[in-house]
Amino acid sequence: YFGFISCFFITSTAPALPQYTITTHCFHLLLIILCSLAHIQYCPPFPQCLAGLFSIAKYFNTKGRYEEVKPYLIEDVLAVNRSILQPPSAQCQEIHLTAIIRHGTRYPTTKNIKEMQKLYTIVMQNASGEESWLREIQTQWTMWYTEDMDGRLVQKGVNELKHLAVRLSKLFPSLISEEKLRGGLFKFITSSKHRCVNSTLSFKAGLTELWAIKDMKFDHEVNDALMRFFDKCARFVQEVDNNPSALVEINNFKTGPEMRRVQKKIADRLRVPYNIAEAAFYLCAYEFAIKAVNSPWCQLFDEDDAKVMEYASDLREFWKRGYGYDINSKSSCILFHDVFRRLDKAASENKSGQQVTEAVTVQVGHADTLLPLLTLLGFFNDSQALTSTHYPPTDQQVSMPLYDDVKEHYRELLQGCDFENECQLFNLSDDLNSFSSSCLGFGSLP
Ligand SMILES: *[C@@H]1O[C@H](CO)[C@@H](O)[C@H](O)[C@H]1NC(C)=O
Ligand SMILES: *[C@@H]1O[C@H](CO)[C@@H](O)[C@H](O)[C@H]1NC(C)=O
Ligand SMILES: *[C@@H]1O[C@H](CO)[C@@H](O)[C@H](O)[C@H]1NC(C)=O
Ligand SMILES: *[C@@H]1O[C@H](CO)[C@@H](O)[C@H](O)[C@H]1NC(C)=O
Ligand SMILES: *[C@@H]1O[C@H](CO)[C@@H](O)[C@H](O)[C@H]1NC(C)=O
Ligand SMILES: *[C@@H]1O[C@H](CO)[C@@H](O)[C@H](O)[C@H]1NC(C)=O
Repeated sequence: YFGFISCFFITSTAPALPQYTITTHCFHLLLIILCSLAHIQYCPPFPQCLAGLFSIAKYFNTKGRYEEVKPYLIEDVLAVNRSILQPPSAQCQEIHLTAIIRHGTRYPTTKNIKEMQKLYTIVMQNASGEESWLREIQTQWTMWYTEDMDGRLVQKGVNELKHLAVRLSKLFPSLISEEKLRGGLFKFITSSKHRCVNSTLSFKAGLTELWAIKDMKFDHEVNDALMRFFDKCARFVQEVDNNPSALVEINNFKTGPEMRRVQKKIADRLRVPYNIAEAAFYLCAYEFAIKAVNSPWCQLFDEDDAKVMEYASDLREFWKRGYGYDINSKSSCILFHDVFRRLDKAASENKSGQQVTEAVTVQVGHADTLLPLLTLLGFFNDSQALTSTHYPPTDQQVSMPLYDDVKEHYRELLQGCDFENECQLFNLSDDLNSFSSSCLGFGSLP
């Protein structure tokens, strides 16, 4: 079970400044993920919810809606709660913000769409039964997903990023300001995927529309080495991503009794001899995320079924992106160091009396970008008990640590965590034996 992610902060004062000086500053490092990754306990009072979808909408994992974890946004999409900002000292002022953001809501990928089309054909040609939801699928629902949609940002995703930009400007008015944007103090970095580029454009549009800026354009940099490090880390690709034996837990679960029960139930209800549970669950999730409708596909699942489907995708995230294998998080070393380089630079510029040259950094990537980084930072580590010495906090009411303490906490990673070293397939000094054993020697969690 892979924890809960929404939004958290690291705030700190500049290194070694005594508390009583009035030039105490802080940093904000803000990591935001635009879709929930796990349980939420709240069902907002809107019609889809009342119709029963509420019982499964919280199990859509990375395909879940952001509103499921931020329900107050349903009422006011620009609402911010400043009480989440609790700097360690009243004199603390923000001088830099790094926001690492997942792209907004998107269409399914071509691979998913092909599976959905197959499912739709099966249900149209082979399914039988008198249930109203089945008749609705067969007579009213149309297959509107086409392969060229291939994971692109949907209009809702455009709006999400625009609104996020406005909310951040309300939360950090001294940093996310028209003056600083016009002054070239913003840096935008994105993954090359069109959904990320479009999310970056949307974020910028949110700001330029807010301030009615028409006379200027703002650049962004495409940087896959930073935002898609998981593709570039040879060791991760070979030992985990392309290694079927690394996913043994996932496959065991998918062929195990819980999953077989759900698969059989779905096949029985449609009276077809095919395993289509996963495609149907995806379809239900996408219809909800993109159109906010409780589609008839969702009627195939009750809450217990949804929990099983969710667990299967939690397992995938855990073993492919999270704590399952050390290299998952180490693949993000390059982004980790990049973040601290920016924080250090801002601190030293301010300390030496210069203007901070990069006041705001906005980096847009994927769930696969955020999960390894969050894992490297030690967040949501379920096997670790929450104690007084358990830093960093996962509770937003918890006040923010000092930058020095943050750096002390990550001292080992800051001194090591070298992307080239971690990601190479074998070290030159290693002999053939240790190479093959390091490729095969996966451990499992207690
Ligand atoms: C803001 O957040 C705090 C802390 O999480 C909470 O106690 C408070 O009720 C929230 N305020 C509003 C208006 O939602
Ligand atoms: C499903 O329907 C198609 C078209 O009617 C038919 O060719 C195929 O044999 C059916 N499959 C099963 C398993 O009944
Ligand atoms: C995304 O960007 C492409 C190319 O710039 C554009 O054609 C497309 O309309 C954009 N889509 C959205 C949803 O903004
Ligand atoms: C450093 O940051 C503090 C707090 O925001 C600010 O008052 C001060 O002007 C900054 N120094 C420079 C040189 O920008
Ligand atoms: C996660 O928790 C385990 C068990 O307490 C601990 O050994 C491990 O170091 C933690 N991982 C990180 C990245 O903090
Ligand atoms: C290569 O060496 C680095 C640094 O000692 C180590 O962290 C990494 O795990 C090694 N890689 C392999 C494949 O053994």
